[in-house]
Amino acid sequence: MTHESAHGHVTGRAVYTDEQALPAKLLRLYPVQSPHAHARLLSIDIAPALATPGIHAVLTAKDIPGENNTGPIVHDEPLLPADVVSHVGQAVAWVVGNDMAAAQAAARLVRVDYEPLPACLSIDAALAAEQFHLKPARVECGDVDAAMAASPRRLLGEARCGGQDHFYLETHASWASIDGEGIVEVTASTQHPSETQAIVAHVLGIPSNRVVCRCLRMGGGFGGKETQANAFAAIAALAARITGHAVGIQLPRGLDMQMTGKRHPFLARYEVGFDADGRLLALDVDMVADGGWSCDLSPPVLMRAMVHIDNAYRCPNTRVIGRIAKTHLPSNTAFRGFGGPQGMLFAEEIQDRIARHLGLAPDLVRERNAYRNGDVTHYGQQLADYELPLLWARLKQRSDYARRRADIDAFNAQNASRKRGLAITPVKFGISFNKTEYNQAGALVLIYQDGSIQLNHGGTEMGQGLHSKMLIVAARVLGVSAHRIQIMTTRTDKVPNTSATAASSGSDLNGQAIKAACETLRDRLAAVAAERLCVAPDALAFADDRIAAGEQSLSFVEVVQAAYRARVSLAATGYYRTPTIHWDPAEGQGHPFYYFSFGAAVSEVEVCGYTGVHQLRRVDLLHDVGDSLHEAIDRGQIEGGFVQGLGWLTCEELRFSASGRLLTDAPSTYKIPTASDVPQDFRVDIYRRAAAPTTDVIFGSKGVGEPPLMLALSVREALRDAVAAFGTASEVALDSPATPEAILRAVERVRAT
Ligand code: MTE
Ligand code: MOS
Repeated sequence: MTHESAHGHVTGRAVYTDEQALPAKLLRLYPVQSPHAHARLLSIDIAPALATPGIHAVLTAKDIPGENNTGPIVHDEPLLPADVVSHVGQAVAWVVGNDMAAAQAAARLVRVDYEPLPACLSIDAALAAEQFHLKPARVECGDVDAAMAASPRRLLGEARCGGQDHFYLETHASWASIDGEGIVEVTASTQHPSETQAIVAHVLGIPSNRVVCRCLRMGGGFGGKETQANAFAAIAALAARITGHAVGIQLPRGLDMQMTGKRHPFLARYEVGFDADGRLLALDVDMVADGGWSCDLSPPVLMRAMVHIDNAYRCPNTRVIGRIAKTHLPSNTAFRGFGGPQGMLFAEEIQDRIARHLGLAPDLVRERNAYRNGDVTHYGQQLADYELPLLWARLKQRSDYARRRADIDAFNAQNASRKRGLAITPVKFGISFNKTEYNQAGALVLIYQDGSIQLNHGGTEMGQGLHSKMLIVAARVLGVSAHRIQIMTTRTDKVPNTSATAASSGSDLNGQAIKAACETLRDRLAAVAAERLCVAPDALAFADDRIAAGEQSLSFVEVVQAAYRARVSLAATGYYRTPTIHWDPAEGQGHPFYYFSFGAAVSEVEVCGYTGVHQLRRVDLLHDVGDSLHEAIDRGQIEGGFVQGLGWLTCEELRFSASGRLLTDAPSTYKIPTASDVPQDFRVDIYRRAAAPTTDVIFGSKGVGEPPLMLALSVREALRDAVAAFGTASEVALDSPATPEAILRAVERVRAT
C-alpha cells in the first residue's frame, strides 16, 4: 500500500491547514513584535493602526475575555503580555486586517513604549544569576560518592550541545470561525488538538464543549507543534470572536523562526569513575537545559534527557541532577527525541573520553559497558527483550567494521592533510510518555450500509505515515481492503481527550484503540454472518472483503446490510491504555517505558585539515521496528530521522545577537541538510528480531518516529575519530554542532598537543 497521501504530496493536491475549505472572507493576522529581550511594557497606542483602512482590530492583553495564558504545564505563558516582554520577537499585539499585507503595514503604526530591563541570554548567564524554572530534578541509583572515591580512574568534563529549529515545511498555521450557535471551530496545524481545544476555551473563557479543533495533516511537526500551535490557534479564535469574521494566520518563515521555541541547548558537567578496562563505575552529571522564557515542555524534556544519559551503557552508581535555565529567549520545546538526543550525546561523549584516555578502541569500551538483558537502568527499569547486543554484533559484521578500521588507519598514516574516521554507536530509546496519563487513546469507527467505512482516531498526521498505518490496522482487523476505508480529519468532537501525537507512540496507542473498535464491530458482524451460514462465530475468517467459514462465504457488504436490517449497531468506539507502566517524577524512579526501541549506526567520514569541511563517505544503519506495519514508511522514518539528526549535529547552528535577536532566521543563514548532504553510500536495514517480544504492541510493531534521529551520533563520533588522527591527543573536544569551523578548531587543538 502506498502512503495514503502519496499522490497528493507528489501532485501538490494534498491540502494543509491554510488551504482547507477556507471561508470566502478570511481576515489575517500580523504581530507587533518586541525589539527587546526583556522590558517593561509602558504603553501601547493602537489608534493610528486602527484608523487604517482594511484594519478590523488590534488585539492586546486587555481584549482577552478568559485566562491570558497558554502554558501547557505551568501557567506562566501569557498569550499577550500585560506588563513585561520576555524575548525579542514576542508578540505584544496582533493586528487583524483584510489581508496579511494590510495587517503587516498597520502593525508598524502601533506605538509601544518600553522600559528595557536586564536580559539573561544564555545558560551561563542563567547559572550566574541563578535563574531557573522550577526546582532541580534528580535521578539517582547506587552510592555515587563512595563509588567515585573508590574508582581507580576519574575524569572531569564539560560538554554542550546546540539547539535546532524544527524547519517543518509548513510553518505554524491556524484559522478559526464561529458559527451561529457560538461554537468555535479551529482548524490548526497542531500535534495536540485536544490541548489546542482546551487552551482556546480557556483564553475565550468558555467551556471545552463549545470548541472544536480539527487537524487534517501537517507539513511536519517534529515536536514543534506539540504545544506551540496553541498560541496561534488561540489568537485566531480571539480575533474571530472580537471581529465576528473568520480569521486565519500562517506565519512567514522568518516570524516562525523568531517566535517559536526550538530544541533545547544543553550544558553538562560530569565526573566519571571507571576501571583500567574502561568499565563505568560511577557517573555524576549536572545538566542544564536552556528553557527559554517560559516553562512549556521543558520539565519532561529535561527528564527524558536525564533518563537517557545511560544510552545503552550500564553504570551501577549514577546521579543526574537537572535544571532548566530561565532565559529571555523563545521558549524551547519538544523536538524529535524530546531531550533523549542531548542525554545520549553526553553518554557517547563520555564513552569516547574514557576510551581515548585509556588508549583503547572506542567500540571496545562501548561493548564492555553495554547493558545485557535483565540489567536495571539508573531509574529502576529492568531491561527485557534486550536484543541490542545482537543487533550491534550483526551491524558490526555487515558493515565490515574491522577491515575498514584497518583501511582507515592505513589511509591516515599516509595522508597528512586529510584524515578519515569511523565510529559505531548504539541507540536505546524508551517508548511511552513519561507522563503516565498521556498513554491512552481513542478511536471511532463507522460502517455505512454500502459497506464503506469511516475511520476516526485521536492521532495527527505530520508526514510520519500514521494515517496509512491506521488504515492498515483497521483493514487487517476487518479483513477488508484499505480502499473501503476513508480516514477522517482528526477532530476533537469525534474522539475527545486525546494525547499529543508524540513520543513515537502515535501508532502504538491509536492503533490499539482502532483495533479495539474494529474488533467490536467484527464480533457484531460475525454474529450476523454465523447465523446466516449456520456456523459458530469463531469459525469465521475475515479476509479479502469476505467473511468465510470453510468453503462458504458472504461478502462484507452483504453482512453489513444484514446487520443493519437486524438492527445491529455499525458504529463503535475503541479505547486503549498502555499497561504496566508507572513513574514517580519526584523520586525519578519507576518503569516509565513500555519497551525500548533499538538501533545502531556505523559512520565513516573524511575531514579536511585545512578547512574543517567533511564528507560523509558511508553510513550503515540497522534499526529495530519490530514487525513493521509498513516497511517503506519505516524506512523513510529511519532515513529522515538520521538526516535530521545529522543536521542538528553538523550544520544547523542557531546564532543570537548580543541583544537576543535570532540572527539565523532564514534558510540562507540557517543551514538544514539537503539532498547533497545525505551519505554518499547509505545502507539502511531493518533489524529482524531474534525472539518474540514479551510486550504486546500493535501487531508486533515498534515506534519508529524519533529513535533513528539518534543514530546520527555515530557521525559526530566518526568526526571526532578523524580529528583525533591529526595528532596524538588523549582527549578530543568537539563542539556541537560540528560545523566546519568547529571541526577546524578541534583539529588545531589536537595538532597543538
Ligand atoms: N516524520 C515526519 N515526516 N514529520 C514529522 O513531523 N515528527 C517526528 C516523527 N517523525 C515527524 C516525523 C516526531 S517528533 C514524532 S514524536 C513522531 O514522528 C510522531 O509520530 P508517531 O508517534 O506516529 O511516530
Ligand atoms: Mo515528538 S518530539 O515527541 O513530537
